[in-house]
Order: sequence, then structure tokens, then C-alpha cells
Amino acid sequence: MPDSLTVEFVSFADIAASGPAASDAEEGASALIVLAGETMAFGAQTQRLVAPAMAALERAARAAKFKGKAGSSLDLLAPNGLGWDRLIVLGAAPKGDESAPQPTDFVGLGGQAMGKLGGATRVAILFEPPGAADSAAAADFALGAALRAYKFDLYRTKKKDDSDKDAPVAVTIAVADPAAARAAHAPRAALADGVVLARNLVNEPPNVVYPEEFANRAKELEKLGVSVEILDRQAMTALGMGALLGVGQGSARESRVVIMRWNGAAGPDQPVAFVGKGVCFDSGGISIKPAASMEDMKGDMAGAACVVGLMHALAARKARVNAIGAIGLVENMPDGGAQRPGDIVRSMSGQTIEIINTDAEGRLVLADVLWYVQDKYKPQFMVDLATLTGAIMVALGQEYAGLFSNNDELSERLRKSGEATGEKVWRMPLAPAYDKMIDSKFADMKNTGGRYGGSITAAQFLQRYVEKTPWAHLDIAGTGMGSPSSDINQSWGSGWGVRLLDRLVKDFYEG
Ligand code: BES
Ligand code: MN
Ligand code: ZN
Repeated sequence: MPDSLTVEFVSFADIAASGPAASDAEEGASALIVLAGETMAFGAQTQRLVAPAMAALERAARAAKFKGKAGSSLDLLAPNGLGWDRLIVLGAAPKGDESAPQPTDFVGLGGQAMGKLGGATRVAILFEPPGAADSAAAADFALGAALRAYKFDLYRTKKKDDSDKDAPVAVTIAVADPAAARAAHAPRAALADGVVLARNLVNEPPNVVYPEEFANRAKELEKLGVSVEILDRQAMTALGMGALLGVGQGSARESRVVIMRWNGAAGPDQPVAFVGKGVCFDSGGISIKPAASMEDMKGDMAGAACVVGLMHALAARKARVNAIGAIGLVENMPDGGAQRPGDIVRSMSGQTIEIINTDAEGRLVLADVLWYVQDKYKPQFMVDLATLTGAIMVALGQEYAGLFSNNDELSERLRKSGEATGEKVWRMPLAPAYDKMIDSKFADMKNTGGRYGGSITAAQFLQRYVEKTPWAHLDIAGTGMGSPSSDINQSWGSGWGVRLLDRLVKDFYEG
């Protein structure tokens, strides 16, 4: 399984101008990365280390018109006077004008650094950014580096190009106070591992990660002190989860619900709860999807993957919170036993649903899991994540996830956490007029509301399974997979939401 990048913090004195231990031809190239401010200003330690190459560096900077602008870089091969194969100067000047400089995004900067390696595998970074930078900045930088370095190549037996073959598995970061940087890095390493776990689950093929196997992967969280309970078909039948079970009945793979519990609070606080859509493959069922891009529907469990990644992060960093993670795992397939349009199913809540389109399956899965979590755990709030509708991509593209909520405070907290992490959410409306669109002639509701407002009517459907509990629904169809790559994500499965919700917990629900 692809793992997170290993990061080692050392002091500046541990980095030698002569480069890493003598390189034999078998080893990959080495690179030294340094940070520069406006007009290529270096910190004192950096200046000392690159001194032998300073003349060449200044000449190269002039030739390339390099000014140290954030995001720009200068790449010197075999710099005279240094033992490193590459010297990479990364622009880190604060954005904005002098009167109002914007705080540097160190997570993004760490990602940029890893994007400039050009195949180097032995990498050291002199972390001496312009202006004051504390240990949190260094740890943020390391987090960004780890997220950028992620690759999913488990199933590629032949590596196609050098950049694929040569990826560093470890980097050394020189900082002013290595002990403090290590301490600040520990919770971020837990977070990076959670994101990596979520990305892996989304990227895995659907013949490997089907509901039972997904549940097995979630079960591994027990190693971190999470208690994990798995409901099989028999247990779900006894509970009356007819909406979820209806979706899975056309598949040769049995459905599962997994409940993960992390009790990190000092007392018996009401838990916070996270619920994920885990459709391990969504063929559409009898209302089958067109062939084009159907393979992407292996990622229809990105909500569940996020919940597992989040629970990993919370437990690994020993978050002082009681948290529930609940995921509904099914495969939506069309066989002779499959659910039909026209079928009426009974959800655990007792409400009946007329199936209009078997491809509107995510809401059916979530209806029973939301009800179960609310009924059994009486959480402070529930946040669900789901690759629920194509319509949310039409509305918001792939930059923002759709946020639907019955609670202004929870919404505002999610918005702030989104701005802080870059995993942004945009609030969409809920209203009785939309709710009416899913009334059914034959049952309490139908599972689609027509062409207009598709992501809103889907959210209205979910709301019928939420009573007084503060609740937010995040439609991550645009952000959970296949979104444009960024400084800190080059992976198809983005792990979107793990950092957002970890931040929500950290900033608003821990002691
Ligand atoms: N999993 C899909 C939504 C989706 C589409 C996610 C594309 C990511 C990329 C969902 O189950 C679905 O099929 N939704 C339908 C709902 C419709 C039948 C009411 C949709 O969006 O078309
Ligand atoms: Mn579907
Ligand atoms: Zn789906």
C-alpha cells in the first residue's frame, strides 16, 4: 500500500554544502531546496550554505529574471562548489503588497517544493522562509510535501517514465528548532496518513475494494484504538434497513454498514458524527448508466473513504473528542434480483420510498445510516459526505463542495474550516417548495425530484431522515475524485474532506 512520505527534521548544521553521502550511480540524484524572499533574499543559514554557489546563482537569477516571487523557482544543475546535484531556489516572497502582506500558505509551498524535484530522490530542504516562521509553518510545509508526494501505482508493473520511478520516499527538512518542528508535525503526520488512506480507498479498483473488503480496511482502525462494528445483511435486515438493502440486492457482493467510534474526550460528551456514502461501484442498477466514464463510479465511495480517513486522523492524533464515523457500503448492480423502478421500499425510519430511478441510490443508503446514527447515538451534529449528484458539478464545478444544512452555526463553522484548509464549501438552499418535489403518489416519497435542482431535491430527501439534530450534507461529487490537480494533490482520488473535517473538530469541538 502506498504510504506517506517520511519527513525528518534536523538542524541547519546537519546539512552539508558537500551534499549527501557519496552518490554512487545506482542512487538517484540529490537536490537541495532553499527558500528565497523578494529579490532572492536568503536567510542567514541559507546564505552560509549556498555561499560557494552564490555567483552562479546570481547569474542564473539574472538570466531567468527570477525574483523570488511566490510559486516561481530557479533550478541549477550540478552547481559549482556544492556537492548537491541540483540546487532549487523556491520563491517564497509573501503575496499581496508591502502594506498588507498575505500570510504564506506553507502547506501549498511544501507541495510546490515537491513538484520541482525533477526526479531527485535524495532531498533536503533548508526551511528558512522570509519573515518570521514558527514550527507550525515548518510542519505545515512538511504536510504539503507529504500530500504532494502521494502516488497510487500499486497496479503498475512497468514504470513508464523516470519521474514515476524516481519519487523520494523521505525528505530531510532543516529548521531552527527540530524538536519543536517534530512536535508540531506529529498531528499533521496523522492527518496526512488519514488523507492517504482516503485517497487509496478511492483509487483502488472496484473488484478489489467491494463492501466486505472496504469494511475490512475500516476494521484496521482498531489498531489505533477505534472501536469498529460491522453490520452484515442479517443485522441490517433485523434493523429494517430496507432502503440501503434494496440498493445492494442486485449485487453478488453483500452490503455492509460500518460504525467506527473514537472516544477521545475526557468525559462522556455527546459524540459528533460523520456519515459517508460508500457505493463501491455505481453502475446505476436497472436504470443503468451510459458506458462513457462509468469506470469513474468506482469512486462513488469517496464519502465513506473520507470518513475512514478522518477517523484515522482523529485517532492517530488522539483528538480530544468523541466521534462516530458511520458508512453505508453497497454495490449498485443490475441483475435478476436487482431493485426495479416502481418498487417501494421501507426505510428503517418507517417511511416508504417509491423507486423512480435506481441510479439515485446514494440517498437511499444514507437515509438508513443517518437514521441509525441519529437514533442510536444522539450526536451533537451529523455531517454526511456523498458523491451524490452530477447536478452539483453543474452548479459549482469542482472548486467548492455543495453544503446543505438545517443549522446556521454548523454551516458557518464548516465554511470557516473550508477557507482555512482550502477544502471549500458553498451553501445551497433547502426549502419546503423543493421538498414537495419528492412527494410520491404511491409512497411517502420518491427517490428523484425531476431534472431541476437535482442536488437540492437529493438533499431534501436526506433531510426527511433527520429530526432535530443539527445536520449538514456535503455533496462532493465534484471534489472527491477527478478534480483538477493542485500543489498538494496529484491523485484522482483527492481525499477531499479529511482536512476540512479534522479542522472543524480541532477548531470547534475539542476541549
Ligand atoms: N454517483 C452518482 C453521482 C455522480 C455522478 C457522482 C458523477 C460523481 C460523478 C449518483 O448516484 C447518481 O447517479 N446520481 C444521479 C441522480 C439522478 C438519477 C436523479 C445523477 O446525478 O444523475
Ligand atoms: Mn447513481
Ligand atoms: Zn452514486
